[in-house]
Amino acid sequence: MSDLTGKVALITGAARGQGAAEARLFVERGAKVVVTDVLETEGEQLAESLGDAARFVRHDVTDAESWDAAVKVAVDTFGKLDVLVNNAAIYIMKPLTETSAEELERILKVNLVGAFHGMKAVMPAMAAAGGGSIVNISSQAGLEGLMNHSAYGSSKWGLRGLSKIAALELGPTRIRVNSVHPGPIATPMVPYLTTGPGSFPTLPLERTGLPEEVAELVAFLASDAAAYITGAEVTVDGGLAAGKFIPRNMR
Ligand SMILES: NC(=O)c1ccc[n+]([C@@H]2O[C@H](COP(=O)([O-])OP(=O)(O)OC[C@H]3O[C@@H](n4cnc5c(N)ncnc54)[C@H](O)[C@@H]3O)[C@@H](O)[C@H]2O)c1
Repeated sequence: MSDLTGKVALITGAARGQGAAEARLFVERGAKVVVTDVLETEGEQLAESLGDAARFVRHDVTDAESWDAAVKVAVDTFGKLDVLVNNAAIYIMKPLTETSAEELERILKVNLVGAFHGMKAVMPAMAAAGGGSIVNISSQAGLEGLMNHSAYGSSKWGLRGLSKIAALELGPTRIRVNSVHPGPIATPMVPYLTTGPGSFPTLPLERTGLPEEVAELVAFLASDAAAYITGAEVTVDGGLAAGKFIPRNMR
């Protein structure tokens, strides 16, 4: 069980889905959390449910200038910033030939450039705190080629690479940077996914994952238990990226 006592975290895209599960778990484990998102009602409700340990800030990760204001809320309210979870993202699934350059640019702007802005914005506060942990939420689509994921996959491959470069550059300031690669997780991003045993028969554990299961990994990487881990890419995917799994009905 990862202990986050005394940590201050900023989690983007945390009004719902995995980001919200991370905010809940972080508070449960002793952290203070700044929850950011473009979804105001959901974000406010989540922060309210977490009490004094959480604040909501309406923040679009593509807006470079407002990043400083979001970081300032963490420092002014909770005294410092130790953890950034770059979780906000958008998703499309369509063939390459039907994907427009505008769609590719939009998805890169949110999923990759948003995280880039975030890492730059938190560096001074993290360095002042003596170091920190940045967790970039990539995807299985950032580890393998997935059909019909040219735009989303490019953004997630980019974020995986950016995480490694940042790990090299920020290590001397004691800022760790790792990427997390979820498989199919039941959230509003992919509303057609179901949960429970047998819900995803084409991967080794034969089910979709839950936001809370990703949150456990993110909490670990954010904690001091992961003090020697940086530049790593960690899957939480029921074994999907391990190799070519043959489903029961095809053996
Ligand atoms: N759900 C999956 O199957 C899955 C699989 C692999 C990776 N992921 C990744 O996990 C992360 C969390 O996704 P989720 O499944 O919880 O989906 P989600 O759609 O529930 O959550 C994403 C959140 O990001 C917010 N967001 C979108 N654009 C934003 C912007 N410009 N600025 C600020 N916030 C913005 C959304 O409002 C939403 O609350 C994402 O990075 C996603 O790409 C998801």
